[in-house]
Amino acid sequence: MKTQQLYINGEFVDAAAGATLDVIDPSTTEVIGRVPDAGPADVDRAVKAARTAFEAGAWKEATAQDRGRVLFEIARLVRDRAPELAEIETRNTGKPIVEAEFDIADSATCYEYYGGLATKIHGDVIPVPDNAMSLALREPMGVAGQIIPWNYPMLMAAWKLAPAICAGCTTVLKPAEQTPLSILALASSFAEAGLPPGVVNIVTGEGGTGAAIVEHADVDKIAFTGSADVGKTIMRAAASTLKKVSLELGGKSPNIFFADADFEIAVEGALFGVFFNQGEVCSAGSRILVQRPIYKKFVEAMVEKAKAITVGMPMDRDTKMGAIVSLEQFDRVRQYQEIGKHEAKVASGGGRATGGALDKGYFIQPTIFYDVDNAARIAREEIFGPVACVIPFDTEDDALRIANDTFYGLAAAVWTRDIFRAMRVVKSLRAGIVWVNHMQPTYVEAPWGGYKQSGIGRELGKWGVEEYLNVKQVYINLSEQPIGWY
Ligand code: NAI
Ligand code: MG
Repeated sequence: MKTQQLYINGEFVDAAAGATLDVIDPSTTEVIGRVPDAGPADVDRAVKAARTAFEAGAWKEATAQDRGRVLFEIARLVRDRAPELAEIETRNTGKPIVEAEFDIADSATCYEYYGGLATKIHGDVIPVPDNAMSLALREPMGVAGQIIPWNYPMLMAAWKLAPAICAGCTTVLKPAEQTPLSILALASSFAEAGLPPGVVNIVTGEGGTGAAIVEHADVDKIAFTGSADVGKTIMRAAASTLKKVSLELGGKSPNIFFADADFEIAVEGALFGVFFNQGEVCSAGSRILVQRPIYKKFVEAMVEKAKAITVGMPMDRDTKMGAIVSLEQFDRVRQYQEIGKHEAKVASGGGRATGGALDKGYFIQPTIFYDVDNAARIAREEIFGPVACVIPFDTEDDALRIANDTFYGLAAAVWTRDIFRAMRVVKSLRAGIVWVNHMQPTYVEAPWGGYKQSGIGRELGKWGVEEYLNVKQVYINLSEQPIGWY
């Protein structure tokens, strides 16, 4: 199998050294690609290309209108190529094809949103005393290093690339080692969309490649999505050159059901909140808090519905849950299933999903633990797989105490027909995103990011582009009088 190339300065190029990584289809474990495990020399080459494009190239001269047009053009090419990109995404991640199609469409929407925003970035004029004028200019931050995970490869790339391009930055993006194929496939469309060489560079590799980006002295900013542990490592490493850092980390998000919630919709919301995308979602509603009067009935209804979830081959359009992305992640989820059996009661699932074609791949049964103590490991640690913890509660205060008793603070949801209660709970939850009577939908127009150890900064919307802008104060003296001090 031919090793793919890195995308640097608008061209596909070989890595400096020969180390490679096999890329698999987790539903069959077959090797479907091979990419370079780029080293510091490759990262340096990519950063130099990004720096040159930022300081001297066509990008420096590009107007906001130019940047907007390029982004709209990228979006158009993503939409034109959607069937091909969705299939690559599904083969590489194991997610159901129908979900991959949503992801590709959502990525296009993200490029479009920032295409529109490019011409709306502007500074301020600040009224100041004396005969002077003060301006706040907003300028691109420079070269961004962007490191993304494997759960939404195309979408995470869009969340990173689109605001950076919109702001006038240039970037070096590293996809996750497990899922580099879709963004490499899209790379050829960047030049076609009119993006000058060096604005977007893609280097593949493992954590070490990411570390080389973070340590590079000529990178101005790091944007990372992934585990909290790596987020902390990146923040420490970034300190040596004081890079700006934005982090979107994990969660252990509470999904809270009061007894007055619409029962049928709520049960489906509980399952959708935690099992969508095999539970490989940073905002997964993995702690399901249910008020005591409906608790037993709720767990039973969840089990009944969970048993009907089709775990199947990802390319099958009826599949509702595909394969786990890698052996490492599969083992990790399996391990938590075993830990859970000692910590709580199993309502359904608890093992790998088997039968027919599933036997070859990394499939997991949708798993529900109940009577879970919020102090249990399965309730505290991010599992990132289809494993739900159901926890009973009595009062609104209990629910809030349990919900907020976590180091994380990415997302939360509350289900009730009582608007007063809903708003009280929304106010008291310590999370960056709170849903009322739903969980997971989010839009590119709205901010996304975490409280507490779920991260730093916000992505998407007008907030997302701020992460790529510097503010420059300009003081203009309007008086020709002597300063009069000495
Ligand atoms: P990870 O955090 O190790 O990997 C994410 C990205 O960071 C990848 O591109 C990886 O190559 C890169 N990376 C790893 N070490 C690095 C370093 N020292 N410096 C710079 N970049 C580095 O996540 P992993 O190992 O794939 O998954 C472990 C757990 O992380 C999962 O079980 C899940 O709990 C969590 N996770 C959270 C995600 C989220 O969306 N918040 C996404 C993926 C994983
Ligand atoms: Mg890791």
